[in-house]
Amino acid sequence: MKRLAETIQLVAKTDVTVLITGETGTGKDLAAKTIHSLSSRADKPFVAVNCPAIPENILESELFGYKKGAFTGATHDREGLFQTAHGGTMLLDEIGDISPVLQAKLLRVLQEKEIKPLGDTRTHKVDVRVIASTNQNLKEKIASGQFREDLYYRLNVVSIHTPSLREISTDIPLIANHFLSFYCSEFGIVQKRFSEDALKILVSRRWHGNVRELQNEIRRAVIFSRGDTINPEDFSCESLKAICPEDTMSIICNLEYKEARRSILEKFNVQYITHLLKDSEGNVSLAAKKACIERQSLQHLMKKYGIHAGDFKESANKI
Ligand SMILES: Nc1ncnc2c1ncn2[C@@H]1O[C@H](COP(=O)(O)OP(=O)(O)OP(=O)(O)O)[C@@H](O)[C@H]1O
Ligand SMILES: [Mg+2]
Repeated sequence: MKRLAETIQLVAKTDVTVLITGETGTGKDLAAKTIHSLSSRADKPFVAVNCPAIPENILESELFGYKKGAFTGATHDREGLFQTAHGGTMLLDEIGDISPVLQAKLLRVLQEKEIKPLGDTRTHKVDVRVIASTNQNLKEKIASGQFREDLYYRLNVVSIHTPSLREISTDIPLIANHFLSFYCSEFGIVQKRFSEDALKILVSRRWHGNVRELQNEIRRAVIFSRGDTINPEDFSCESLKAICPEDTMSIICNLEYKEARRSILEKFNVQYITHLLKDSEGNVSLAAKKACIERQSLQHLMKKYGIHAGDFKESANKI
């Protein structure tokens, strides 16, 4: 994480195009915003465009603008986002999905530093630093003909990789403590701390949603924990599932009897039902039959512990 911060600081001093790659929730948006705010363009606009969220035909007019009469419904001239971002930075978020036509137009902006609004005969100079981000493998997209190689090299003047929490698990306590003090201040409560066991869970569990998921987990724990220490039982079911059996017993034996029973029962139910549904490939009726319980009772337990039959159907199909 420190290396990432140093790279961002170095890159911010330059004006080069940057390609940020990383899984979901690893901080690609945050990295782009930070580069902008540390750069000489900081007091100019930062415009972020979430490419897949805008339909293809609209994305083009959004980015480059249009002249009155360029298409049905174009009742007046409209400035594009590249003009809005003039002097500043534009983040093209999730660039991997844009159409070949738009790829060609972007290449032109990057090469010529000019745009041509739809229906306009003239080009307009723009001074915009472009940062692109993606959670896809663009090299694979180039190989399969879905992404232009020339655009890739124009974007990838400098590349920054935002690591997944798997890659930087030793940084998890640092990041977790950052969010802990942030949320305690935000909610105006006394500063809490993590117990050793709580930190162990945070470091050892899988975070498919990366920093975003860790952040949500800590916000939740700050809200639900009593006292000034965050203990394992303050975490969500997802986190408790991550504890290995020896750890479970040593944590549980330190709890009050009622709390210990609730905790162990929860873990037992989650593991038992997960195994059962895996074995039945997500078929709830079959799972209930195997366990010799009513289908409704199983459904009730699944609802209580947030277990979805669909998750097991999907993994069964993939295999
Ligand atoms: N290093 C970090 N320090 C503090 N907060 C972080 C860090 N990295 C990410 N975050 C926080 O995690 C959340 C997700 O970050 P962000 O939206 O930048 O991820 P992303 O990679 O763009 O995700 P997606 O691919 O889903 O768009 C945000 O709330 C962000 O502030
Ligand atoms: Mg993002």
